[in-house]
Amino acid sequence: MAPEKRDLLSAGDLGRDELENLLELAQRTKDKRSSQLLVGKTLALLFFDRSLRTRVSFEVAAQQLGAHCINVFADRELYGLEPEEEVVMDGPAEEHVKDAARTLSRYVDLLGVRQLSRTGSWEVDRRETLLHGYARHATVPVVNLESTMEHPCQAIADVMTMRENLTRLQGRRFTLAWSMNPEPKNMGPCHSLLRLVALSGMTITLAHPLGFELDHEIVEHARRDAEMHGGSLRVVNDLEEGVRSAEVVYTRSWGSTRYWDDPERERMVKRSLQSWIFDERIMGLTDDALFMHPLPVRRGVGATDAVLDGRRSVIYDQAGNRTPAQKALLTFLLG
Ligand code: CP
Repeated sequence: MAPEKRDLLSAGDLGRDELENLLELAQRTKDKRSSQLLVGKTLALLFFDRSLRTRVSFEVAAQQLGAHCINVFADRELYGLEPEEEVVMDGPAEEHVKDAARTLSRYVDLLGVRQLSRTGSWEVDRRETLLHGYARHATVPVVNLESTMEHPCQAIADVMTMRENLTRLQGRRFTLAWSMNPEPKNMGPCHSLLRLVALSGMTITLAHPLGFELDHEIVEHARRDAEMHGGSLRVVNDLEEGVRSAEVVYTRSWGSTRYWDDPERERMVKRSLQSWIFDERIMGLTDDALFMHPLPVRRGVGATDAVLDGRRSVIYDQAGNRTPAQKALLTFLLG
């Protein structure tokens, strides 16, 4: 019998030991730029949304392992896809995800999918039907390259970056904070990171304005995991309180599920939240914290130039670690 394929759709798909193994492998192979481990393997990465870091770092990771990588700008280049099961396809969608996934599985050894769904309904978007449709029907591993709910590849690189700087994460004071962006953003990188730092037993503070709660199930799951591994998780609605004495601060904006169907209303509400910016005064309240952001960032809106380019900023290390983290992941899934 063929071994069951393994997907990575959520950071929650990784156990603590698996995360540990991935991080060790990523660190070991970080400077090894040429290997033949995956010669003869081919990946197809389907981008339904824009990307700089994920797209290029996956391509480089594949190349360094001897694999071939095909990037597809899926929205432009593929047929419109139907993700729901057992429907009569008399609408605009020309191909079912089942047929696309099964066909691609005959050509390639791994599929990556980036799709940030924004239908206007939070309940619909949080189901991620396209990503899960690919995973259900593909016979090869499927990797989430960022979705509405998760961005596990970014989170693995983020934890790797923290460990390079702090060595031990257990018990360290970590703050994940919302910051300003005029556009409604997805929650993927923050959900995935929350899951992984919880596994590492960190003392977690989640800071956001009222109305900008992260997904309740993910927060509660992270709280249980953090407590199980000797850490904790608290939520505050004040940026200064959230960052006080932190050893690591990680920021990004995310959208409000309250206004998911009304982005204009969200933009209006956010006019009173412009103080949620990382500047030198906010960083001065921390315990000389590392500053992290997954990028892209709007300079002068989510964080100032002084912080982004400052002594404690590791934003380019996070971006750089995408390549070794994904080399480790590809080896784990295909090696
Ligand atoms: N952080 C991140 O995933 O960047 P891209 O959107 O450029 O891939």
